[in-house]
Amino acid sequence: MKLEVKNICCIGAGYVGGPTMAVIADKCPEINVNVVDKNEKRLKGWNSLDLSLLPVYEHGLDKLILRCRGRNLHFSNDLEKHISEADMIFISVNTPTKSKGIGAGQASDLKWIDASAREIAKYARGETIVIEKSTLPVRTAQTIKEILDSSSLLNQNKKFTVLSNPEFLSEGSAINDLENPDRVLIGGDDEDSINALTKIYLKWVNPEKILTTNLWSSELSKLSANAFLAQRISSINSISAICEATGADIKDVSKAIGTDSRIGEDFLNAGPGFGGSCFKKDILNLVYIANHYGLKEVASYWQKVVDINNWQTKRVSSLIVEKLFGTISSKKIAILGYAFKANTNDSRESAAISVSKELLNEGGNICIYDPKVSISQIKSDLVEDPIHLSNLEKSEGGWASAPTAIEAIKGSDAVVILTEWEEFRSLNWSKVASLMRPPSWIFDTRSIIDLEDAKKYGLNIWSIGLGN
Ligand code: UDX
Ligand code: UDX
Repeated sequence: MKLEVKNICCIGAGYVGGPTMAVIADKCPEINVNVVDKNEKRLKGWNSLDLSLLPVYEHGLDKLILRCRGRNLHFSNDLEKHISEADMIFISVNTPTKSKGIGAGQASDLKWIDASAREIAKYARGETIVIEKSTLPVRTAQTIKEILDSSSLLNQNKKFTVLSNPEFLSEGSAINDLENPDRVLIGGDDEDSINALTKIYLKWVNPEKILTTNLWSSELSKLSANAFLAQRISSINSISAICEATGADIKDVSKAIGTDSRIGEDFLNAGPGFGGSCFKKDILNLVYIANHYGLKEVASYWQKVVDINNWQTKRVSSLIVEKLFGTISSKKIAILGYAFKANTNDSRESAAISVSKELLNEGGNICIYDPKVSISQIKSDLVEDPIHLSNLEKSEGGWASAPTAIEAIKGSDAVVILTEWEEFRSLNWSKVASLMRPPSWIFDTRSIIDLEDAKKYGLNIWSIGLGN
């Protein structure tokens, strides 16, 4: 395989493909990077002159786009052209959990991976390094290889190697994670291809941070890393319930256990349940694989991490209803934060979706404010049209979106903080109390507010993992 990479193509301009390619283009001005996507609306966003319309919100992404777009970073729908010119192709399409057929509810739907491999097989010319960037079930590389090899049999000029190079970026800090990774993992068996990819990362990553393994170890490491992170959250969330029951404080417990250097302080924040496109999907993938190999105990071990997560989210919505005297019918509830975490516009698998649906189902009128998630996204998640803010109080089980936190709070019986956006840490509690209908409740599912300050104004407060 040749070593010089001049043209990169990335299939999929999503939360992973877009930021990852922007960083590669920035660090490697000599390489031409083309990101292709079939979604015209997304492409329009990536090509927009107004950088606030980029489809992905990440701190620092706009500056990279401004610097590289049109220079050596391009977004287009011309799959044929860019695949045929590429020396290296990243597959970065989405792999949602299957909703029907074999493995429904657990296995990943690989139809887009399959389709991408076929397109590469069809349009590629010469020698091409194909890289799995999407998180995939272990041994997917084999499927990709088989599809590609069948086309090289027909055309001797086409030669492919497949590498796994999973992404460990965390949304909300994607650019920083890409620029300063803990490690870069490259799985494969063709030394030249591994060297070609390593050479790209070496432009900004220290060599000791680049780990190479075989394909399967690389694929499994990505799933396992996410499963371990999610497991910590389920563990701390389970302890949060014990804190509430016993009078302990989860913040103290997290600190006390996290200072043990063997445990470490990260990922010990109790919350309404983890969300995001990866954790649930990747654990379910592990469960599916374990079952496939007859490892029933392993499967049920990891399934529990997801079960506790669902339980935690449901626990939050149930106790809101309980604290509001068992009925929220026609009461106004302000939802502060809808993204699955702060600093992103992504709402995939956000706890806010299930909490909102439960509250709507109980007849509550919910008013949602999030600084970055669009109203059209919320509409598609809740599968229900919004009503105008001014009509919300006449409704029963309706939702509206508000332009500010204060607008959402006006006239509400309860405020539920679901995402840890910075602006919710410093709400003016005197003003909040004056705008709400008493007895007013604040539910802080991220334990971010200043309790002493808020309590001064007669607000009832429930904070996750805080026992009385
Ligand atoms: C990524 C990873 O790839 C996924 O495996 C991981 O588990 C979650 O993160 P992400 O970038 O977040 O996915 O997904 P998304 O934002 O949905 O972007 C995927 C893009 O691929 C979309 O813009 C979609 O239009 C595009 N796509 C999908 C194609 O261009 N062609 C296809 O055939 C399928
Ligand atoms: C995750 C992994 O961190 C990343 O390495 C991988 O590439 C993709 O999946 P992401 O889903 O973007 O990244 O966000 P992450 O910061 O891991 O948060 C996931 C969820 O866990 C969020 O809903 C977040 O609010 C929640 N969380 C995180 C907690 O509830 N408590 C914590 O202490 C940390």
